[in-house]
Amino acid sequence: MLSSSRLSWKWTACLCFLTLLCCLFTPALTVKENDFKKCTQSGFCKRNRAYADNAATQGSSWEPPYKILPEQASFKDGQLQAPILKTTDAQGTTVRLPVTVSFLKSGTARVTVDEEQRKEKNIELRHNSIARKERYNEAEKWAIVGGLDVDTNAKVSSESKSGINIKYGPGFIFEADIKYSPFSIEFKRDGVAQIKLNDRGLLNVEHWRPKVDKPAPEKKEGEDGEESEEEPEAAEATPSEDQSTWWEETFGGNTDSKPRGPESVALDITFFGYEHVYGIPEHTGPLSLKETRGGDGNYKEPYRLYNSDVFEYILDSPMTLYGAIPFMQAQRKDSTVGVFWLNGAETWVDITKAKEHKNPLALGIGSKTNTHTHWISESGVMDVFVFLGPTPRDVTKNYAELTGTTAMPQEFAIGYHQCRWNYVSDDDVKEVDRKMDRYHIPYDVIWLDIEYLDDKKYFTWEPNMFSDPISMGEQLDSHGRKLVVIIDPHIKNTKYPVSEELKSKGLAVKNKEGNIFEGWCWPGSSHWVDCFNPEAIKWWTTLFDYDKFKGTLKNTFIWNDMNEPSVFNGPEVTMPKDNLHHDNWEHRDVHNINGMTFHNATFEALLSRKKGELRRPFVLTRSFYAGSQRLGAMWTGDNQATWEYLAAATPMILAQGISGFPFAGADVGGFFGNPEPELQSRWFQAGAFYPFFRGHAHIDARRREPYLVPEPHRSIITAALRLRYSLLPAWYTAFYHANQDGSPILRPLYWTHPSEEAGFDIDDEFFVGSTGLLVKPVVEQEKTTADIYIPDDEVYYDYFTYEKLPTSKGKHLTVQAPLETIPVLMRGGHIIPRRDVPRRSAQLMQYDDYTLVIAVSKNGNAEGELYVDDGDTFEYENGQYIHRSFKLAGSSLTSTDAEGRDVKSIKEGDWLKRMSDVAVDKIIIVGAPSSLAGKSEVQLEVEGEKTPVRVDYHKAEGGKAAYAVLGRVGAKIGADWKIDFA
Ligand code: NOJ
Repeated sequence: MLSSSRLSWKWTACLCFLTLLCCLFTPALTVKENDFKKCTQSGFCKRNRAYADNAATQGSSWEPPYKILPEQASFKDGQLQAPILKTTDAQGTTVRLPVTVSFLKSGTARVTVDEEQRKEKNIELRHNSIARKERYNEAEKWAIVGGLDVDTNAKVSSESKSGINIKYGPGFIFEADIKYSPFSIEFKRDGVAQIKLNDRGLLNVEHWRPKVDKPAPEKKEGEDGEESEEEPEAAEATPSEDQSTWWEETFGGNTDSKPRGPESVALDITFFGYEHVYGIPEHTGPLSLKETRGGDGNYKEPYRLYNSDVFEYILDSPMTLYGAIPFMQAQRKDSTVGVFWLNGAETWVDITKAKEHKNPLALGIGSKTNTHTHWISESGVMDVFVFLGPTPRDVTKNYAELTGTTAMPQEFAIGYHQCRWNYVSDDDVKEVDRKMDRYHIPYDVIWLDIEYLDDKKYFTWEPNMFSDPISMGEQLDSHGRKLVVIIDPHIKNTKYPVSEELKSKGLAVKNKEGNIFEGWCWPGSSHWVDCFNPEAIKWWTTLFDYDKFKGTLKNTFIWNDMNEPSVFNGPEVTMPKDNLHHDNWEHRDVHNINGMTFHNATFEALLSRKKGELRRPFVLTRSFYAGSQRLGAMWTGDNQATWEYLAAATPMILAQGISGFPFAGADVGGFFGNPEPELQSRWFQAGAFYPFFRGHAHIDARRREPYLVPEPHRSIITAALRLRYSLLPAWYTAFYHANQDGSPILRPLYWTHPSEEAGFDIDDEFFVGSTGLLVKPVVEQEKTTADIYIPDDEVYYDYFTYEKLPTSKGKHLTVQAPLETIPVLMRGGHIIPRRDVPRRSAQLMQYDDYTLVIAVSKNGNAEGELYVDDGDTFEYENGQYIHRSFKLAGSSLTSTDAEGRDVKSIKEGDWLKRMSDVAVDKIIIVGAPSSLAGKSEVQLEVEGEKTPVRVDYHKAEGGKAAYAVLGRVGAKIGADWKIDFA
């Protein structure tokens, strides 16, 4: 029998769940901000902000209590090691915090601070907790895949009682100036200070201390004869310290037992002379991050990183969202640096900017802006990586060396995805599929949201509506299409094999007592698979085998949602922080990494669905962390069908790109609500330039498949989709670059033009990979023009009309953008590969011929690349790919292997064999050289043999550039060839 308190708890949970459901069906206007903590409601954030305020108030008399004793520091083999001593009281008591500063071969520096007593597990936990005693130090295990080799050549350039100076990096141009008392590190490049750790003395490691329980309050008789209680003095604390949240914290009715007490780590990081900082997604504000300590136009709250299922999130806010990447880049003219704060716990980042006046008599003149940041995490070791650039590309590359790069995608995954919550039956799916064809609308993937499940039990099918998933999958497959089905991490707490195995094998997340954790999500009462546990990953991978997950086929792929994890009745809609994961790490320590571990398990599962079948997984995730880029794509969660959310998507996707996870998109059309046709058209036009391009809608939203939208919108949407499909070769090549060196797929202007300060805060236009395509989606209602900032002196052409545009560097160009037009420019100097035959899906285009579009630079040159492989397997790792470099120099156009390989010596597998018939069929030369005027043919030269190619030359007129079309070129895509225009 249930005890009455348990019974009433159940009722409360039930009511909560029902209330939540009601909320889902009657959308409120905005997120319930009060459901999520502000800094003042998060004990450690509040304490560290107060610490910062106290330091600021004291000004130059502030004495940071962290120091190294020179005799205890040693530098050897590229690493400095020492205990940092933290003075904890007026008597000079200290705690030891071992610090390691490592200089890595890549030129990156790493600073790690731990706590000795906890390393030695020499602490006591409260409440008989079985949690780990150490500070969490396994974030590295999940996030880092390489780049940790220490550079033993790093050398001491000077040393004294006050500190040590280390030279390191390429050509020893980097320098770390480590000061002992107070402890700080200034990083320099070419002798110029770039970044300083603990510049403002805000380093704070809340060391472990026992809770000294207050003696029972003494009872005293008051004047009125009533008994009153007197508060005794608190245990070990300086008077200014606020202890109220040290030992327990309650928020929204949930109490966190905090068995280790206060344990935050915090550090201030100054970027000297840098006015712009970017990164630390996921947030909704501008790409160039705002200040967070109030003031005009600034935020009042720090940026928060605490992966959360935020219902109807708000715009322009530092509030946390579903994913977290604690990586920040700073930009000033001709210089980029960055930091990566490797910590999986709840984290807040304050940003302020201050003018530094070199000459106090000349205010503003010669002054530069420093950006001050303050990083605050609830627990774990402190682990900071410092990148000194000097270019955005260098910083991106160094970060990618550590956390890995975007996985080469399944080629279909960069086509268009058609989703809604929900397609109601297998017949419905088939009908949508047929209609897309009937209306000649290309798409690659159709998605099933949670209603396909039997009673929300993952790995099952609703038996009445999805009685024949196989025939559904087969119909899709017959024209190269795929199915994505949703699988979330919460497993229904009921009798069914998946749930029973999860329990019997002990693979679920546990509560603070070490019993299986139970909470609420879509299925009602649920348990959560603990993918930190290697055994859980192993088990999870077995569930996806084709013969286990019946109804799935080779063309079934997976969507992981709710993996923050979302727990409807949990604190801040997630798990209690004192829950326990594998090896008894507290959820508090790993919260932000949790989503990635689930994504990882599903990725692994798709890799091993069938013995001998090794294909690239496709898994979409909502929650993510640094490193998630290795596993698939993300989207920006539950946006709304309004113009504001359309506009907000671009900076969000750009932020993902420069934070190492560029395979990103936003729900096209908006998740909540019903977009009017104009909004839907504009959203498809923008979405055609999202790396991940998916239309999605809430269960209450009206059906809005592209063919349902009235004309002229249907045609406008179809044209946007066709544009995407024709450019797939360019997109795939951009993914290849992301895969090679982490470069963003959508590139903001600071990244492409780091010398042009006027572009540093522009986040509504971008370049696509290295194609030179400059895109500015229209995101305002009834807007028919676009003002595009031009970052250089190169020539720019309109992508569609070949008009040569009257651009000039640093100026905005106004282009016409009526509803049917997407503002897309071609920067001179680039060659863009395309496939121009419209087809139903990417797979059906696989062996189509190519078109090359050459946008000739003002100097008459152009360059471009094409990377292509089978788009499905890992055969590219065995050389089964084509990688061409196209060059127009003077009057000759050449195609050569981009890596200088002798392509003839490559043993051709099936795919390469089939590709040997694929050719460059058409070449369009925009800004065509005058040598082509009057010519009717040119010669294609392959291995000394020449064949004529027809030329159709159009002279410049009416604003259009001269252009030429070479038809039926027949130059094999994988072979070397040359065409002379002279
Ligand atoms: C929340 C996701 O963000 C949304 O895209 C999905 O449709 C619902 N969960 C239902 O699965």
